[in-house]
Amino acid sequence: MIEFSSVTKRFADGTVAVDSLDLTAATGELTVLVGPSGCGKTTSLRMINRLDEATAGIIAVDGQDIRSRSLTELRRGIGYVMQHSGLFPHRTIGGNIATVPRLLGWDKKRIAARVDELIETVGLEAGMAARYPHQLSGGQQQRVGVARALAADPPIMLMDEPFAAVDPIVRKRLQDEFLALQGRLGKTIVFVTHDIDEAIRLGDRIAVFGDGGRLAQFATPDELLAAPKNDFVIDFLGAEPQLKRLSLISARMATPIDAPLIEVGASAEAAVAAADKAGTDWVLVLDDRRIVGWHRIEAYRADTARGAERFDAVMGAGATLRAALGALVISPLGVVARTDGEGRFDGLLDQSSLHRALS
Ligand SMILES: Nc1ncnc2c1ncn2[C@@H]1O[C@H](COP(=O)(O)OP(=O)(O)OP(=O)(O)O)[C@@H](O)[C@H]1O
Ligand SMILES: [Mg+2]
Repeated sequence: MIEFSSVTKRFADGTVAVDSLDLTAATGELTVLVGPSGCGKTTSLRMINRLDEATAGIIAVDGQDIRSRSLTELRRGIGYVMQHSGLFPHRTIGGNIATVPRLLGWDKKRIAARVDELIETVGLEAGMAARYPHQLSGGQQQRVGVARALAADPPIMLMDEPFAAVDPIVRKRLQDEFLALQGRLGKTIVFVTHDIDEAIRLGDRIAVFGDGGRLAQFATPDELLAAPKNDFVIDFLGAEPQLKRLSLISARMATPIDAPLIEVGASAEAAVAAADKAGTDWVLVLDDRRIVGWHRIEAYRADTARGAERFDAVMGAGATLRAALGALVISPLGVVARTDGEGRFDGLLDQSSLHRALS
């Protein structure tokens, strides 16, 4: 883990960029530093690999003060993705990615294989290895920055706004790919952004910095949204923190309500009994646990039951509570059905299910 204890950075001109920072980035977790421009995020990152030296306090990696280690040895274990990608303009993409392996003296074949592998890992095309940075889009350059930092497979990654140069749609895709990659690699990552939504999506823990390099709150995304510590954090979280919380929680966490279920072809008595038991005036019709549709119970009572009406409020296995809410607000019955990976019925949620899951 990476541990900041009362770390202060005061630059020569007197600017205090970071003020008595206490923070622990746990091994294998993604810790996000977020906050307004100039609050000391980049400086905090640069102190970990000693591009900036702390003025006071101690930074320890795996329990060892980083000043007691040689710079080369320390940096060998740390991949650094610079703000604005920071690629070497006169080196090809392949050459950029190969930077650290070359410094480590890997042989040519091993380097070439690693470059090919990483270009694929970050979702670029093989042919791009021979191009120069200016021949790539901003988002592609940022991917190269990530590939370069991963090259020697360091256990620690410092990433400074790696997805800042791309539009929201590409950013969301990069974030998804990055989360999947981190799921496989399990690196210890300190990730800087000024985008609170990115922080909430990616972070295991989030450090919200205030002005003057002071830590305003350090918490999990859910804790932060559920219990922001002060007005600064509330302000920084932006509108609708409860909706943001919904998007963090899987719909699988919600406890389903009693559902009025009948099998296709069931009798009117069975339908009435199911509806009475669940306290509804309708039933949901299943065929081998797949949703066929729904019926008003009146239709059964009047013995006019014909084909079921379509039931559209259905969400898949990976849905969040936010998706459930989205489906709920347009569901005429005020309920949404959850399905499993195979599309089979897996419970009915209503507003109270969401409420209970949140509290
Ligand atoms: N070399 C330096 N000398 C003097 N002041 C500096 C130096 N580097 C950074 N600072 C100041 O330290 C403060 C923190 O800078 P830092 O780059 O860490 O901010 P940041 O949170 O990364 O901001 P941004 O979101 O804009 O990247 C700022 O006020 C900045 O002007
Ligand atoms: Mg910065």
